[in-house]
Amino acid sequence: MPAPPVRLADVETPAAVVDLDRLERNITTAARYATGHGLQLRPHVKTHKSTAVARRQLEAGAVGLTCATPRELDVMATVCDDLFWAHPPVGAAKIARAMALPPHVRLTVAVDDLSQVAALASAAVAANRRVGVLVEFDVGMRRVGVPAVPALVTMAQAVAAASSLAFDGITCYPGHIRQPVGEQASALAVLQQRLLAASDALSAAGLPPRVVSAGSTPTMWRTHEVPAITEMRPGTSVYHDRTTASIGVCTWDDIAMTVLATVISTSIPGQVVLDAGTKALGREPMRGTDGEGWAVLQDRPHLVVERMSEEHGIIVLGDDPWRPSVGEVVRLVPNHVCVAMHNFDRVVGVRGDRVESMWDVEARGRAGLVP
Ligand SMILES: Cc1ncc(COP(=O)(O)O)c(C=O)c1O
Repeated sequence: MPAPPVRLADVETPAAVVDLDRLERNITTAARYATGHGLQLRPHVKTHKSTAVARRQLEAGAVGLTCATPRELDVMATVCDDLFWAHPPVGAAKIARAMALPPHVRLTVAVDDLSQVAALASAAVAANRRVGVLVEFDVGMRRVGVPAVPALVTMAQAVAAASSLAFDGITCYPGHIRQPVGEQASALAVLQQRLLAASDALSAAGLPPRVVSAGSTPTMWRTHEVPAITEMRPGTSVYHDRTTASIGVCTWDDIAMTVLATVISTSIPGQVVLDAGTKALGREPMRGTDGEGWAVLQDRPHLVVERMSEEHGIIVLGDDPWRPSVGEVVRLVPNHVCVAMHNFDRVVGVRGDRVESMWDVEARGRAGLVP
C-alpha cells in the first residue's frame, strides 16, 4: 500500500474523510451512555462497514456487532465473535453464507415468519451449529416484524421447539421515531408499553426474553426511558450526518464524516459545480425533517447541493457572497452518511487537515455470490 499523502489537500476527490477526534468521541460517548444505563451496546456496522472502526467500537465496550448483509457478517467475523444478523434470513444462498461463518462466531438472527424459522432450523442442523434467534416485533415502523403479540408468542414457541435454535428474546427497530430528541417522550412511552406487553406475554408462555434489542440513533440518548430494552444498536451515531444533527442527536461539531470535493466549474453564473454527485453523496432526502437538497457545505451549512448528476453536485449561490475558484476543495456533510459511505472503497482519517490513516470499507458492495 502506498504511503498516505500527508495533507488533506493532496487527496484525490471525491473522498470519504473521517475526523478521527470526532470518531473517537462518538464511539466513547455511545459506550459511556450504554454502560451508565446498564445497557448492552451492539452497534450496527452498516454505517461504517469497516473492521478498523468495528475494532474501536469493540475495544470501547460493545458486546458484539449488528449486521444487515451476509457480506457484513463475513467481514465482521474477522474481528468479532458475536454477531447479530438483523435482516430477514430469506434465500438459501444467504442462509448458507451465514451458516458458513467460523464456528467460534456466536450468530443470532432476527426472524418474523415461520418459514424463516423452519429454513434457519434445518440449515443450522446441516451446519452443525446452534443459532440464537430474536423474534422481530413491529413497534410502529411498519417495515418488518410481527405486529401482534399472540403471533410473536407463537413464533417464539416455534423457535424454542427447534433443537438447533435458541430463543433469546425479541428485537425491534423504532425507525418511526425520528422527531427531534426533545419531542420523543410520548412515542417512547408507547414503545415501552408495547415491549412490556410482549415481554409479559412471552413470560406467561414460559419464554421470558433474555434480550430485548432495540435502539436507533435518533432515540439513542433516551433509550433508558424505555426500561424494557436491554440492548441498543445505533449505527449512524458513529459518524453522524446532516439528518441526525437536524433532530438534535448530535451537534454540528460531532459530525465525523464528510465528503471531500473539488470545485470543477463555475462557468454558469450564480452556481458552483463540485465533483461529488449521486455516486458520492447518494440521493437521500432529509427524512422527517425540514431541509432541502442532498448535502451541505460543512463550514457554510446554508449552502446546499441542490441538484446532482452522477459525478456533479450543484450549489446555487443565490445572494451568498462565496465565490470559490475552480480547484478549491470543500467538505460536504451528506444527508445520510450510511448511503454516502457505501460509495467509497476507502476512508481517509484526518486530525485537522493532516492525514493520519486510511482504511478500507471492506463490507461495501454486493458480490452476487453463487453458492
Ligand atoms: C435493524 C436495525 N438496527 C439498527 C439500525 C441502526 O439505526 P440508526 O441508523 O438509526 O443508527 C438500523 C438502521 O437502519 C436497523 O435497520
